[in-house]
Amino acid sequence: MQLLDLKPEHTVIDLGCGTGTFAITEARSCRKVFAVDISQAMLDKCAEKARAAGLGNIETHCAGFLTYEHKGALVDTVVSVAALHHLPDFWKAVAFKRIYNMLKPGGKLFLFDIVFSFPVEFYHSELNSWVNGMRERAGQAMAEESIIHIRDEYSTFDWIIDGMMERTGFKIEQKFSDFPNSLSYICVRP
Ligand SMILES: C[S@@+](CC[C@H](N)C(=O)[O-])C[C@H]1O[C@@H](n2cnc3c(N)ncnc32)[C@H](O)[C@@H]1O
Repeated sequence: MQLLDLKPEHTVIDLGCGTGTFAITEARSCRKVFAVDISQAMLDKCAEKARAAGLGNIETHCAGFLTYEHKGALVDTVVSVAALHHLPDFWKAVAFKRIYNMLKPGGKLFLFDIVFSFPVEFYHSELNSWVNGMRERAGQAMAEESIIHIRDEYSTFDWIIDGMMERTGFKIEQKFSDFPNSLSYICVRP
């Protein structure tokens, strides 16, 4: 949130907002949040949490990375936390282009996701140590979630994400990792 430097007049689109954990924090620091998710159940929970927090500036939309049509003015910031890995790579590139077109010039994208940075030849030991680390730190259920993630979802390498962002026209301002096999990016639409 500090890195995003939201201002009271700013508008934000949160793509794959889930139950709104991040959207609610964003809404406390900006004018309006468009909270977008393909799951109406998630959005209902998000709206309930926003009401309980006394926030009237979150507008929910049931749509996805590939279908959300932003009707208002271009926004200052797009946020996406732990959601883009649901798209295969070709469609991630389409999503980046769509995100780019939702942002004002100078607007920022904050992306957090499971992204792999290890050399491909080490995939077996790296993935094993990720699952084992999850088991130690967060328990068996999270270890099993990680196995499902590896097997069924579409996390990819950082050099692929970097390339997609750059080809879309984004400038990567910051890229850092706070957790194993995850990356946060701050990108700017020049
Ligand atoms: C792991 S949750 C993260 C939710 C939230 N961003 C958070 O950090 O708490 C992933 C979310 O992505 C949503 N999702 C899956 N596919 C999507 C798509 N194609 N477009 C938008 N959201 C999607 C899911 O419904 C789910 O709410």
